[in-house]
This record gives sequence, structure tokens and C-alpha cells, in this order.
Amino acid sequence: MDTITIGIITLSDRASRGKYEDLSGPEIKTYFSDRIRNPIEWHYEVIPDDKAQLRSLLIAMCEQKIGLICTTGGTGPAPRDITPEVTEHVCEKMLPGFGEEMRRISLNAVPTAILSRQTAGIRDKSLIINLPGKPRAIAECLDGVYPAIPYCLDLIGAPYMEFKEKGKNAFRPG
Ligand code: MTE
Repeated sequence: MDTITIGIITLSDRASRGKYEDLSGPEIKTYFSDRIRNPIEWHYEVIPDDKAQLRSLLIAMCEQKIGLICTTGGTGPAPRDITPEVTEHVCEKMLPGFGEEMRRISLNAVPTAILSRQTAGIRDKSLIINLPGKPRAIAECLDGVYPAIPYCLDLIGAPYMEFKEKGKNAFRPG
């Protein structure tokens, strides 16, 4: 079974200055470690809410052929929240269904879920998914889109992920 690499980018001005411990990035690690059979190498970065830094990091991760890249934070309406627009800027194709489903499922947990502009898209052979910055939002959102991730990765030619049976199972059509 191939080793796969997953990119995690936490966007937080405070966490990037060491003022605050990032809890959301580790939540993403736990979520996928519990579900993916392949050995996983993590490419994990904590950066400020800065357009240029996010843009060059996303492009670099895509050039390194990292099939799945999750961002956390910076999806809201505040002036420094820039994650969705940078994601859109670097992607060749958007997958609006990811954002729609993550907001829909999150509204069962919190009424302010509607404030997240989170989206997902494809650049080359990478799938980029935005998640909100709250640690508990990670599983709430990924539960909604996780079943479609492996087939999406197959379709774009990313490394083949093998999934464990856990909760809602990943789905590859016949
Ligand atoms: N989605 C889930 N599942 N759980 C949450 O707690 N918080 C919301 C929303 N989406 C939340 C959520 C809130 S309060 C905000 S402001 C937006 O995500 C944007 O958060 P971000 O700027 O940290 O990405």
C-alpha cells in the first residue's frame, strides 16, 4: 500500500504567533488517521491569515502532488478571513457541493454555520477543502463530505486511498 501525503494548513494570526495552540489541525489528523488505511505522511503548516502566504503554500503543496489538502480557519466574514477567495484563485475547478453540504450539516450543530464561506476545489491533481477554524467544526463538516473524497481523488488522478469502515463509509460507485 502506498504512503500518501495529506496537507493541513491552519490559518490563524494568533496560532501562527504562538499565542494560541492550534487544535483544529490535530483534529484533521485524527479524523483521517482513524479512516485511512495507507501509511500517512503529514505536511502541516500554521500560517497567519495572509493571502500571499496561503496562495504560495497551496501552490507548493499542489506541485508536490499532495492529493488532499485541508485548510482550517479564515472562512468567515471578518476582514482578515481570506481562505475561500485564495482557494478559488488557485483552483482550476470549484466543487461547490462540498461547501453546500458542510454548511447544511453544520446548521444542525450551530446557527452561525451560515457565516462560513467554506468551499472546495481542484488544482491539478489536488483536492483542496476549506474547514472552519473551530476544532469541533472539523468532524461536523468532514462527516458530510468524507464519503465522496476517495472517488473524487480517483477522478483527478491523485494517489489511491484505502479506507477503513468507520461511521459513514467512503463510497466508490460500482
Ligand atoms: N461549522 C461547524 N460545523 N461548527 C461551528 O462551530 N462555526 C461557525 C461557522 N461554521 C462553526 C461552523 C462560525 S461561528 C463562523 S464565524 C464560521 O464558521 C467561520 O469560521 P472561521 O472564520 O473560523 O473559518
